[in-house]
Amino acid sequence: MSTPLNTPAASGFTVRALGPTMGVEITGLDAAVAQADTTIAWLRALLQEHSVICLRGQTLTEEQQIAFSRQWGPLEDFPEEDKTQNAATIYNVSNVSAQGEQLPESDHRVIFQKVNARWHTDSSYRYVPSYASLLYGIEVLPPEVKDGRTGFSNMFMAYDALPAALKARLQPLHMVHYYEFGRRLFPELPPVSRHEREHVPPVSHPLVRVHPDRGFRRSLFMTANAGNEISGLSLADGQALHRELVEHIGRPEFCHFHRWQTGDLVIWDNRAVLHKAEAYEMGRYRRVLRRTTLAGDGPVLGPYSLPG
Ligand SMILES: [Fe+2]
Repeated sequence: MSTPLNTPAASGFTVRALGPTMGVEITGLDAAVAQADTTIAWLRALLQEHSVICLRGQTLTEEQQIAFSRQWGPLEDFPEEDKTQNAATIYNVSNVSAQGEQLPESDHRVIFQKVNARWHTDSSYRYVPSYASLLYGIEVLPPEVKDGRTGFSNMFMAYDALPAALKARLQPLHMVHYYEFGRRLFPELPPVSRHEREHVPPVSHPLVRVHPDRGFRRSLFMTANAGNEISGLSLADGQALHRELVEHIGRPEFCHFHRWQTGDLVIWDNRAVLHKAEAYEMGRYRRVLRRTTLAGDGPVLGPYSLPG
């Protein structure tokens, strides 16, 4: 494994690879307490290098999760008024109500999780999509249940593996991302509110993302949960191209699937990987995950949007 796995001096942290494609697991780090600046810088560097970090064995109140996340940088607020409880920066990924009752599969909070069973990157429907997400496992599926994992697909590997002609075709193209797309997938969801419509209008982002902080390396930047249309192509051609790319990004050699343990705090780089929530029997098993999201620091840059 490449750098930087050297842990801060006398930290007591243990780091190991999560799998062959990406990700590291850290034990011995308590995210409930304030971290040294050097520890946050080290975690940032790890995320940059490995795209996914799992901090095992956490016990975090909502306030502690927010405090740990804020040490990395500013958080996103969520546009959905009805999926927040105590804080606008918290997103509950759960089939259990705030009162502790399991929700029926017809409940829109459960249906939203089905939207996120498609490959996506969090808040791609914003002009400035997020930097990273932190998802905390409060109540997870029993160990004998084999589904319900969270999948990650490495968009650098996916881009690199594209045929040269397809890379050239993608270079000038943008995908249209919009929050309302979930309603097309699941018309039984309540309509987008005026608040949501005004806060997150449709945006387009380059399909080929250029990363100035990674030596201008290129990756794919797309989603299957917030649109399927390509700006500049006919509807049919754009959707056909989108289908082709969705099939490509699911190839196992780009992917890692995380099986949740209680107390995992999984952090991923939304600029580098896509993720998806694997299905599980939502009517049978309870699951409670809690997300905070780190804001991005600028719009998505493509091959034609570099300064100079
Ligand atoms: Fe997500």
